[in-house]
Amino acid sequence: MKILITGGAGFIGSHVVRLFVNKYPNYQIYNLDKLTYAGNLENLTDIEHKENYSFLKGDITDAAYLDEIFGNYKFDAVIHLAAESHVDRSIADPLAFVQTNVIGTVNLLLAVKKHWADDLEKHLFYHISTDEVYGSLGEDGLFTEETPYDPRSPYSASKASSDHFVRAWYHTYGLPVKISNCSNNYGPNHFPEKLIPLAINNIKNERPVPVYGKGENVRDWLYVLDHARAIDVIFHNGKVGDTYNIGGINEWKNLDLIELLCDVMDEKLGREKGHSRKLITFVKDRAGHDLRYAIDSSKLVNELGWKPSVTFEEGLSKTVDWYLENNEWLEHVTSGNYTHYYEEQYTNR
Ligand code: NAD
Ligand code: TYD
Repeated sequence: MKILITGGAGFIGSHVVRLFVNKYPNYQIYNLDKLTYAGNLENLTDIEHKENYSFLKGDITDAAYLDEIFGNYKFDAVIHLAAESHVDRSIADPLAFVQTNVIGTVNLLLAVKKHWADDLEKHLFYHISTDEVYGSLGEDGLFTEETPYDPRSPYSASKASSDHFVRAWYHTYGLPVKISNCSNNYGPNHFPEKLIPLAINNIKNERPVPVYGKGENVRDWLYVLDHARAIDVIFHNGKVGDTYNIGGINEWKNLDLIELLCDVMDEKLGREKGHSRKLITFVKDRAGHDLRYAIDSSKLVNELGWKPSVTFEEGLSKTVDWYLENNEWLEHVTSGNYTHYYEEQYTNR
């Protein structure tokens, strides 16, 4: 089987590519990535020479390029992860999110419609999405697969739009599709603009750790390898036309999470207990900041037998160890662009 994985040089995509390349030596895995600031081939050095792996540098907004590679390689399936993925960037530059997440996804759908037309039913388009399409929860409740879409950030609006287009291709043209909506991931290779890797990097360097607002917003965190395992299970055993929610059953208020991270790092770095908590700096809140995400993944657990393999304590400890051991990776990806953005927001209270 020939599988096109888009966004395979990014955080989650690189873990999915590695899992598929190592677990399925008979599959040919093609990683299509534009290598934006978030794409990094250093994430894949351990598998780059494998015979069943190829890298294709390209942009999903480039329809002519997609036409060419679909014609050349005759993919059997697509696992689509390429996206602009950071909410703060979407607030600053929404159009980039429309371009890649909406237009890019529709370009891919047009390419499969053309190139798979003769035997559409033998193919699969698996779209990787986010729980943020469901909007924001209050104190109670969980997102289920039936929760109506209510995206509130330009990022989640663009992902919701791409989900709708994928479903439109299923209903209108009969394209076999699957969609999964996952909660916040964390783990190795996470670009240090997102909360956990940003905090690890700043704690390590004794720099302020920015907490938006009062730090009361809640996220449900899942170790990235468990997301990759869920994608493997859904790709192979999920029902065509269905949606699966993926979550860690692991809700944390941002401030509690950052305090835990400070304590874990104090212990690992041999610092006095409480030392790193002093770095916590409350900053201006994110515009339209969703209060709480929490996901009910019982459909995936009950129907497909998936469950998270690591506890949050284990996952967080492994993640901190990875960042402390991979200083070179961190230095290479740290461009400085986004830190200026945050520094402007620091308002010590
Ligand atoms: P990421 O930003 O780390 O990686 C995105 C990858 O897509 C990068 O390698 C980038 O170079 C590539 N890319 C961006 N624009 C492209 C384009 N126009 N053409 C080709 N490649 C392009 O993102 P991530 O956190 O790994 O997220 C991957 C997917 O999973 C996204 O679709 C995201 O919406 C979804 N998701 C992420 C999370 C999370 O917590 N990070 C949770 C649920 C769902
Ligand atoms: P983030 O990692 O950007 O993921 P998302 O916005 O997709 O959930 O942010 C996670 C939470 O942490 C979110 O509530 C915003 C908050 N946050 C901070 O408090 N400080 C930060 O520096 C960042 C990046 C995020």
